Formats: sequence, structure tokens, C-alpha cells
Amino acid sequence: GKKSICAPSILSADFTKIDREIKKAETAGAIWLHLDVMDGQFVPEITFGTKMVNDIRKKTELFLDVHLMVNNPENLVVPMVRAGADAITFHVEAVVHAHRIVQSIKNENVLCGISIVPSTPVSLITELLSEVDLILIMSVNPGYGGQKLIPSTVEKIRQLDHFRREHNLNYKISVDGGVNRNTVSLVKKAGVDVFVAGSAFFNSEDPAEELKVLETI
Ligand code: DX5
Ligand code: ZN
Repeated sequence: GKKSICAPSILSADFTKIDREIKKAETAGAIWLHLDVMDGQFVPEITFGTKMVNDIRKKTELFLDVHLMVNNPENLVVPMVRAGADAITFHVEAVVHAHRIVQSIKNENVLCGISIVPSTPVSLITELLSEVDLILIMSVNPGYGGQKLIPSTVEKIRQLDHFRREHNLNYKISVDGGVNRNTVSLVKKAGVDVFVAGSAFFNSEDPAEELKVLETI
């Protein structure tokens, strides 16, 4: 079958050694780097904004997959593109006019992603599926790394995979939260193209080996 790729999430990296942490992802052969932006509103914690994304952009050619866990994501679209984002994913739960934000991201010529938390059904995003490049299924409640994957979320990956075949669409399906050696085959079988790995990658003694294992399992 088709291969899924691992997007290491720097949320689990050491922010005081970001240069070295980015190198870990590069050396391991990753092509995507997942950047978790949290505002202390949509989720309790705060991580970083455009300054950090831009500093990372200057250090790497990796595909920067920006995951906005923020209220009012529309305010960050243009700044994040200027900072060097390659894909911008926002939460449909954080907005009323999701369709408008999708258009504004696409106008910037970067990949447009939408995300749903574990309590949100796929039916909420049906109208957007033909408009977006990427669907990020949260397999944990967003806000923290190192949580356990919630098994019921895997069914949503299956639904989205089925829907795209049925409707001849080609959005990518990505999954975020609790993906490790024990859970990766579950999400792969369900049909993901990309899986985010925070703690599984950065807390590993040998991240390069870990990425290889996760991608080949
Ligand atoms: C969670 C973040 C994730 C996080 C995943 O809110 O969106 O990207 O880094 O971390 P792990 O892989 O440790 O669950
Ligand atoms: Zn994320």
C-alpha cells in the first residue's frame, strides 16, 4: 500500500536547543516538521507564534506544517505565510466562517488544512472537504504532547479515506496525538498519509531509528 510519512512535532523538542532539534528531524530523514501554535485561549497552554516559525524557516528547508490551536486563526494566516509556513491548519471549532478562512489560506498559495478535536464529528466538515488540501484528525484533546490516543477517533480517518475515494478528492489525511510504535499501524490501516509524532520522536534515544520504525511498521 501507500507509504505514510512521519511529521515530527517540535512541541516535544527542547526549545532552548531548537537548532539541534531541527537537525534531529532532518538527519532522521523527515520531510515535514509539525509546528504547534497555541494561544492560551483555544487551548490552555501557550507555545510560540510567527517569530519562532520564521526563525525555524531560516534554519531548514523542511516542509513547515503549522497547526494553529488558536482562536481567531484568520489573524494569523498572512503573518504565518510571511514567516514561512508551507501548510496552515486551523480548527473549525475555533471559527464561524470556516469557508472564508479556507479561501484566504488558499489565496496565499500554501496548503490549507482543517482540524477537528475528538468530540467533533466528520459530518461537521462535509461542506469543506472538496475545498481543502489536508484534514488533521486530532486523536487526543489538543494542548499537550505525550497523551494517549483516543481509539474512537480512528474511525474518522476511515470515514475520510472512504469519502475521498467515493468523491474522487485528493486531500491528505493527517493524525495528531498519541502516535507511537503501538498505535501507528492502527492509523495507517485506517488510511492516513501523514502522522504527527511528538514524544515518540523527540523523547527517543535514537530518533532516526524511531522514525524509520514508525514509517515502516
Ligand atoms: C497536541 C499537539 C500535537 C503534539 C503531539 O495538542 O497538537 O502535535 O505535539 O504529541 P504526541 O505525539 O506526544 O502525542
Ligand atoms: Zn499538532
